[in-house]
Amino acid sequence: MHKFDEKASKILLNVLSHTIERFSYDPPTLDYPKSVGFFEKNAPCLINELGNSIDTVFDQFKNVLEQSIISVDSPRNLSFIPAAPTKASMIFDLVVSAGSLRGESWMESSGAVWAENQVIRWIADLVSFPESAGGCFISGGTNGNLSALVVAREEFRKSNPDNNLKLAIICSDQAHSSVKSVAKIMDCEVIVVPTNEKYQLKASLISHEMNSNVKYSNLAVFAVVATAGTTNLGVIDDIDSVASYTEKNNYWLHVDGAYGGAGLLSPKVRNLYKGIEKANSFIVDPHKWLFAPVDCAAIIYRDESMAVEAHSQKASYLDVLHENDEGCNPSDFAFHLTRRARGLPLWFSLSIYGVKEYRESVEHSLEVANYAADKIRTLPYLNLFMDPVLSIVVFERLNWSWENYNAWSKEQLRNQLCFVVPSVIDEKPVLRFAFLNPETSNSMVDEILQSLG
Ligand SMILES: Cc1ncc(COP(=O)(O)O)c(C=O)c1O
Repeated sequence: MHKFDEKASKILLNVLSHTIERFSYDPPTLDYPKSVGFFEKNAPCLINELGNSIDTVFDQFKNVLEQSIISVDSPRNLSFIPAAPTKASMIFDLVVSAGSLRGESWMESSGAVWAENQVIRWIADLVSFPESAGGCFISGGTNGNLSALVVAREEFRKSNPDNNLKLAIICSDQAHSSVKSVAKIMDCEVIVVPTNEKYQLKASLISHEMNSNVKYSNLAVFAVVATAGTTNLGVIDDIDSVASYTEKNNYWLHVDGAYGGAGLLSPKVRNLYKGIEKANSFIVDPHKWLFAPVDCAAIIYRDESMAVEAHSQKASYLDVLHENDEGCNPSDFAFHLTRRARGLPLWFSLSIYGVKEYRESVEHSLEVANYAADKIRTLPYLNLFMDPVLSIVVFERLNWSWENYNAWSKEQLRNQLCFVVPSVIDEKPVLRFAFLNPETSNSMVDEILQSLG
């Protein structure tokens, strides 16, 4: 028996009992980062010629490393865009990892692709995309934005072969940082359109910006990115008007719903997404507000064949993968080749718990956000920045500087009360709660707000 196999059953038992123990924490502890000096002392390098005992390595992980990783699934983690993977999805992720389940092609992974595609279709139906729609699961929203905009660029090149102007993407001043990174990789300009008083992008604002600067006439715009749930404020752009604008100008419309796309599940906010069905491409990150573990984002194109044309890798050793006359190859839909079957944990969990549970979990976050906003309005030392649109609440602590916010943030993480970091809006420091975890309660919000008094 190979040495790894002799050890495998003990490792598995350790991992399972550790996982069961972690699941028994209600809720999981937040934990906090440690210094390099701490790791030098407590986590010496274990990589050597002969290896170590399982206990030595696992103890270092459990007692030092893991406790220095802030738990993204703690209901007290309200920073950035946290996550709250379901237990079913986390457990099934073990199966995907333990089986090293790949999902790049129909030939190699038809069962995985079949199940993942059911979820892709479910998301496409939430968007009201037509039958021609299709896509795949990728590592994150950043890759989703890249993959979508590459398809947009290729489509533009096909219909404008003689246009040699520098390419440009339009987005709002609230669009995610990844749009600028993608433009850099693609060597495109970004035309940043200032949003309105509600921090929304609208067609009239794009037209105004385009008419305001002659330098834009030297650019070949090929795509507009609208955001369905901005990262800082959770605002949904006026997608319907932006869709009319892109239709009129023959531009690609990409909707970034990495965070907020999950809100499509709730009839309470569904009308805010009006026009999304006209998008050419859409992303949502199930590893954010659809309760899947990292790394799981979904990219869906209105017409999947355009993505295949742009992304399918060609080589003699891959020809055999393209000879199937049924099924599809997820590797053809984005900038990747080998991929884990990362959609399966979501497929498993969604199939076990049912859509209703997902809808209610999303709506719980909307309710806690409204509760927090109402409470903030009543506290004299706080100022609500704006009414929440989805599940992000932004507010100021009167008379506090960036340093005050940071000191409070660090102290509360140390106290394990919450992980809430400051952000900046309109050059002002603010505090920001991102509610995604169905276990975050009103009483936790009360405790956090009290600590600011
Ligand atoms: C609106 C939006 N788009 C894109 C991204 C990037 O997603 P990822 O971190 O999965 O690459 C984020 C991340 O927070 C986001 O909020």
